[in-house]
Amino acid sequence: MPKQKIVVLTGAGMSAESGLKTFRDENGLWEGHDLMQVATPEGFARNPELVLEFYNQRRRQLLDVSPNKGHLALAKLEQAFDVSIITQNVDNLHEQAGSSHVVHLHGELFKVRSTMDKNHILDWKKDLIFGDLDDKGHQLRPHIVWFGEMVPMLETATEITQQADILIIVGTSMQVYPAASLIHYAPAQIPMYFVDPKPNIRSADFYNLTVIPKTAAEGVPLLVNELFNN
Ligand code: APR
Repeated sequence: MPKQKIVVLTGAGMSAESGLKTFRDENGLWEGHDLMQVATPEGFARNPELVLEFYNQRRRQLLDVSPNKGHLALAKLEQAFDVSIITQNVDNLHEQAGSSHVVHLHGELFKVRSTMDKNHILDWKKDLIFGDLDDKGHQLRPHIVWFGEMVPMLETATEITQQADILIIVGTSMQVYPAASLIHYAPAQIPMYFVDPKPNIRSADFYNLTVIPKTAAEGVPLLVNELFNN
């Protein structure tokens, strides 16, 4: 009997209880920074040092945080299900928790790439400064998808979502596309669960949607236990 396919779409709320800021909550990242300056190619061209330091700060913080109970519960799902995590997050907390199939839609803080070749990607855990070059002498940049840039993993993520038997969405405000559109690629009749203390979705929009108005560390373990016991 093949294992049921669970697809999990996660956003910044997934990592909030690990101590990482979300973007649009009170005191979120976009309150303290102008995203046009630090999360666009234009911003990088205008002031590369500012952008590199914005990501250096976030990368340094990653060295001090751990997966929360939500990440760990999602990793445990793999004992009984075929699980794919599609995350908008650029942290590596799903991987640290033990999830073995994680697709990063918006890139990863612990990777950098050449400014001249988006496929030339390097593992990178230290600060990245202006003057750090690839082997062809081109400046390196964060391996992050900035606003206005293509989402290289979108096709992969769409194909995975279309195969879901169960869809779980955790900790995203559903405001950034194309990530937010993935829900529409899930087969219409499958059970869907939305875990978020302030859910930005109307259960009326999807007849098969269960909204769990709890945090990731509270709500995801409860949902995972329910799925194991069904
Ligand atoms: N547990 C679960 N959800 C939470 C928690 C928590 N502890 N705390 C906050 N949330 C929810 C909020 O209610 C909100 O719906 O997480 C969501 C965070 O929304 P955003 O800050 O907009 O983050 P996200 O949806 O991941 O943003 C998408 O925007 O700026 C870009 O590239 C960036 O990947 C990011 C994308």
